[in-house]
Amino acid sequence: MHVVLLIRRIGNVFYYCYKLFIETSYLNSLMERIPTGIAKLDQELEGGLPINKGILVTGTAGSGKTIFGLHVINRACEDGKNCLILATEETKEDIIAEAENFGFAFSHYLEEELLTITKVLEMRSKTTTASSHLTSGLSIREIDIIGLADLVPENVDLVLIDNIGVFALGMSLGDFRDQFDTLNLLLSEKSVTAIYVLDQATHELTNYVADYSTYGCIKFLVKENPYTSKMERFIFIPKMRGTNISLDLNKFVITPEGMRVIGPTE
Ligand SMILES: Nc1ncnc2c1ncn2[C@@H]1O[C@H](COP(=O)(O)OP(=O)(O)OP(=O)(O)O)[C@@H](O)[C@H]1O
Ligand SMILES: [Mg+2]
Repeated sequence: MHVVLLIRRIGNVFYYCYKLFIETSYLNSLMERIPTGIAKLDQELEGGLPINKGILVTGTAGSGKTIFGLHVINRACEDGKNCLILATEETKEDIIAEAENFGFAFSHYLEEELLTITKVLEMRSKTTTASSHLTSGLSIREIDIIGLADLVPENVDLVLIDNIGVFALGMSLGDFRDQFDTLNLLLSEKSVTAIYVLDQATHELTNYVADYSTYGCIKFLVKENPYTSKMERFIFIPKMRGTNISLDLNKFVITPEGMRVIGPTE
C-alpha cells in the first residue's frame, strides 16, 4: 500500500515539474525570433517577433507603421535574411530614400539580392487601370489577399506587406477574414515571418477582425499628453502569443536614426 502511495506521489511530483516547465517562459525563450532592431522593443518582445508567424501592425496615418516595418527589414537584412517588401502606397524609390535617410543600407541590400521591393499598384477605376499598363507593377485588381502568397518566393524569410488594407476594399467582412486567415496560414507554411501593415480606417471598417487572425498585434498611436498638451507617439502590444508582454503603453520618438522607444508611461 505504502509503495503504491509513494509511486503516486513521485508521479505527482513529476507531473507538477512538467507543468511548471511548460508554463514558465523557459520554452517560450526557446522560440526563435526576428529582432526588430529597436532595442527596448526587442527586450519587451523577449528578443523580437516570433519567427514564421504573422504580425499585424495598425495605427493612424503618420503614426509610424512603415518606419517600424523598415526597421525590422533593415535588421533582418543585416542578419543576412532574405526580405521582401510588397508596397501598395509608396514607390520603390520613396521606400529606398526613406530607409537610407535613417541610415538603413537598402540600396546595398537590393544589390546583394537580400531585399526585393515590389510595388503593387492600387487600381480603383477603369481609367487608372488603363494607365497602369504604362507603369510597371502588379495591379491589385489582378490579385486578392490569398493571391499575395504567390508573390512571396519560397526563399523569403521576412515579408512586409504595407498596406494590406487596400485589398479589403469592396470585400465582405467574411471574405476578408477568410482570405486573411488563409494568407497567414500559407505564409506560415512557407516558413515566412510576415508583417502586415493595416491602416486604421480599414481596420475599423472591418470591425478589427484582423486582430484575431495573427499571432501578434502591434498598435501605433499618437495622443495628447494631458500634462504638456503636446502630441506624443506610443506603441502598444496588446497581443503576442508565446511572449510575456507587459501591456504597457510605451512612448517612442522618431529621430534621424529611426525609432527609439523611451519606455512605459506612468
Ligand atoms: N527623419 C525623421 N525624423 C523625424 N520624424 C520623421 C522622420 N521621418 C519621418 N518622420 C515622421 O514619421 C511619420 C511617418 O511615419 P510612417 O510613414 O511610418 O507612418 P505610417 O503610420 O506608415 O503612416 P501612413 O498610414 O500614412 O502610411 C512622419 O509623419 C514624420 O512625422
Ligand atoms: Mg505607411
